[in-house]
Amino acid sequence: MADVLLEDVRSHYRATGLTQRLKTALAVFGPEDQRLTPQQLGILDQFHTRGLAATADLANLVRIATGALVLDVGCGVGGPARFLADTCSCRVTGIDLSEPFVDAARYLTERTGQDGQVSFQTASALALPFDDGRFDVVLLQHVAMNIVDRAQLYREIRRVLKTGGKFATFDVVLNSGEPHYPVPWARTPETSFLLTPEATREAVEQAGFHTLAWQDDTEAARTWVTQLRASGPPPSPNLGVVMGPDFVQLTSNLGRNLMEGRLGILMAVFEATSTHR
Ligand SMILES: C[S@@+](CC[C@H](N)C(=O)[O-])C[C@H]1O[C@@H](n2cnc3c(N)ncnc32)[C@H](O)[C@@H]1O
Repeated sequence: MADVLLEDVRSHYRATGLTQRLKTALAVFGPEDQRLTPQQLGILDQFHTRGLAATADLANLVRIATGALVLDVGCGVGGPARFLADTCSCRVTGIDLSEPFVDAARYLTERTGQDGQVSFQTASALALPFDDGRFDVVLLQHVAMNIVDRAQLYREIRRVLKTGGKFATFDVVLNSGEPHYPVPWARTPETSFLLTPEATREAVEQAGFHTLAWQDDTEAARTWVTQLRASGPPPSPNLGVVMGPDFVQLTSNLGRNLMEGRLGILMAVFEATSTHR
């Protein structure tokens, strides 16, 4: 059952030929050997509500020290990892279930010249391929809603963190009523496993964390939706290169769910405590 679900999630993020599509789309910035900045790529590599601005807010909230070892779980095409490495001077490892995303993440990281500081592996969040206590910070942005076994997810994150390390999460949460599908993380309810903010907090704390910062980001997300509706889809290249042709419909359903109060957005930081299983 668990393997079937992982396969369904993987297939949602299949993105065949993604690296080639990115190469073509990025031609607008100049020749292949021209170095790009993480900020330039922010229009197409931040696969979550509010894009680059949300990653910057999360970085401010978690406060990453220079030289820190950071793990980005469900890193997508690596936008948050490159941005954090650039702005916080930390070293980031990203893991993701989707091979095409990891391939694309490596390509984009060569284009920004950050391959010495940022690396990627294909792996599941439920079986992280790292020793205990390896990382100072773990990041999880818009990933938990694809994962049914939250206890295992947060236990794995706690296991790879040092005691005193920080876990920063930015995720979609259930508010009231059933969401309209398809949404950016799931085309049907079968691969969407949303929890309320309270249930999320309980699951994280049970894995061996205490809460340091807790922010309801729903109003900021609604403002973003209102701006998007007024301006129309962003000019190309945009996240549609990664998400595919139904990008506009997926994003507009997310907006509708937020505006109707069905979904909310949570930003939170937790500290790894010394007692955990
Ligand atoms: C909406 S994207 C967010 C990507 C990235 N965190 C960002 O914010 O740009 C969700 C990502 O989670 C990954 N994912 C979902 N379930 C996963 C799992 N069990 N293990 C690892 N990655 C997973 C997907 O492959 C996808 O890249």
